[in-house]
Amino acid sequence: MKYKIALLPGDGIGPEVMDATVTVLKALEKKKPIEFEFNTYMVGDAEKKRSGTALPQATIDGVKAADACLFACVGETAKETILPLRQKFNLYANLRPAKAYPGVPAVKPETDLMIVRENTEGIYKMIGDRQPRSAFNVRVITWEASERIVRYAFEYAKANGKTKVTSVHKSNVLDYTDGLYLEASREVAKEYPDIEYQELIVDAAGMRLVMNPEMFQVVVTTNMFGDILSDVTAGLVGGLGMAPSGNVGDDICIFEPVHGSAPDIAGKGIANPAACILSAAMMLDWLKEEQAADMVEAAVLKVLEEGKVKTPDLGGKNKTTEFAEAVAKAL
Ligand code: IPM
Ligand code: MN
Repeated sequence: MKYKIALLPGDGIGPEVMDATVTVLKALEKKKPIEFEFNTYMVGDAEKKRSGTALPQATIDGVKAADACLFACVGETAKETILPLRQKFNLYANLRPAKAYPGVPAVKPETDLMIVRENTEGIYKMIGDRQPRSAFNVRVITWEASERIVRYAFEYAKANGKTKVTSVHKSNVLDYTDGLYLEASREVAKEYPDIEYQELIVDAAGMRLVMNPEMFQVVVTTNMFGDILSDVTAGLVGGLGMAPSGNVGDDICIFEPVHGSAPDIAGKGIANPAACILSAAMMLDWLKEEQAADMVEAAVLKVLEEGKVKTPDLGGKNKTTEFAEAVAKAL
């Protein structure tokens, strides 16, 4: 199969980790009956400085025209780039797996879970106002989006042999919004009698995730709780350096390492590209190229396990390109 892939490298270490990922995907073309047409689009702080907008129309059109997209990272313009992309294209599920990787020190190596974060509404609607000494943001929760995200979580569980879904909320305080979310969540849960359904209040969920991550398989929640808890779970398995993610809708998707643009090391060629490469593996899975996805993930794991090629964040001395070449070779 041939796929059109839109690449949005963005700022800072973005272009470096994106190049590394393309190296791996090009190596994959030699191993599998799979072909990629890569098209690169501008996004982020540098583009805003250059053209006045952080998210040009050509980039929006490129995302729409592609079979799948990879977005690396931007500096200060996340609110003008990835957030509008998520909402504009209705990429309603933000998938954030957390599991320990070999050779990467983890606080809780037994962690193996998926956070399914609602990605289009909640406090991220960015509705509010600021007066000199008071301000507010509105939290918008709809039945449609709540039902859709919880159903996504259950379908994900079903498709991946998971037996339990935990729905996280704060309905004891956010009675209007999370009251609605929880009601929708319960309705959907009834459709899946074979999957255990658990509810947890977000603060307790935070504690439980840290103390007993093995309690969790699939965690579904609203937008900002998912944002916070997915950093918590990334922390359990070694930090954001390794964390991949996917923003997925019904037919458009943008896969994205969770890390930022790391301006302190940008341009030095030492960024760890693993999160971006693992995001590409998730993208392959979404494209139904499951074998190719497994191959890419296994190659990353092999390189980490061998521990001969490591970027400085993992205690090594290797360059981004050397890590990418090692993964390409391990394919
Ligand atoms: C993330 C990030 C973004 C978010 C920021 C950069 C707007 O933290 O992808 O988790 O809050 O969603
Ligand atoms: Mn975040």
